[in-house]
Amino acid sequence: RAAGPLTGKKVVVTAGGTVERIDPVRYITNDSSGKMGFALAEAARELGAEVVLIAGSTQVQPPAGKGIELERVQSAQNMYDAVLRHFDSSDIVIKAAAVADYRPAVQADRKIKKSGDTLTLELVKNVDILEQLGRKKNGQLLIGFAAETNDLEHYALDKLRRKNCDLIVANDVTSEGAGFGTDTNIVHIYDANGLVQKLPLMSKQQTARRILELAAQRLPGAQG
Ligand code: PMT
Repeated sequence: RAAGPLTGKKVVVTAGGTVERIDPVRYITNDSSGKMGFALAEAARELGAEVVLIAGSTQVQPPAGKGIELERVQSAQNMYDAVLRHFDSSDIVIKAAAVADYRPAVQADRKIKKSGDTLTLELVKNVDILEQLGRKKNGQLLIGFAAETNDLEHYALDKLRRKNCDLIVANDVTSEGAGFGTDTNIVHIYDANGLVQKLPLMSKQQTARRILELAAQRLPGAQG
């Protein structure tokens, strides 16, 4: 591979949705297709990085081959464990995955039988992976995503501060051509000082490239 701005750097990307089991045949998940995270993994590889791609449930095939090490996970807890194993040795961590905020309090060993007219599932809070990484951070450039339906800037900046990220990539998932499942995205990128870049509608590949170029410029020791 040709040398690039991320040559010699390790980039960890999470992609897809987590799967929270209810019983052996049922689960809770979300609409993340994996496309945004996969595009980020490929863009990082193109810029020279060694990539670890941690993927939950996805609708498209993950990229594979030289430069990308793929790990498949199910639950938020599995994703957290996988990210932690790579965290200390990484330079950039990008959390494009849609992680479930809650999981069923009990995971039944056997298929739950139909009984009464209503069934109540109790949910308990999952670990917030990004927030934990924000606390443990020790030189890594931490990039979060924010999937919002309103007040994009307000919520994105709140997440950036609360989760101690270096950059946050906000997408309004109600805009046409942005967010879950699409081949394109429309993102606004923020740092602790506010807006860094507003990107127009473009393919997830192009969006990913722009995010990684920005990340490369912000690594310790980067020029200009
Ligand atoms: O996969 P695609 O179909 O291409 O769709 C892409 C996408 C819409 C999923 C992606 O662009 C995106 O916005 N990903 C983040 C989705 C999300 O969970 O956003 P959030 O605002 O709920 O979470 C904010 C950040 O905290 C995210 O980086 C998320 O990974 C992280 N998080 C959230 C909850 C949790 N328990 N742990 C986390 O780490």
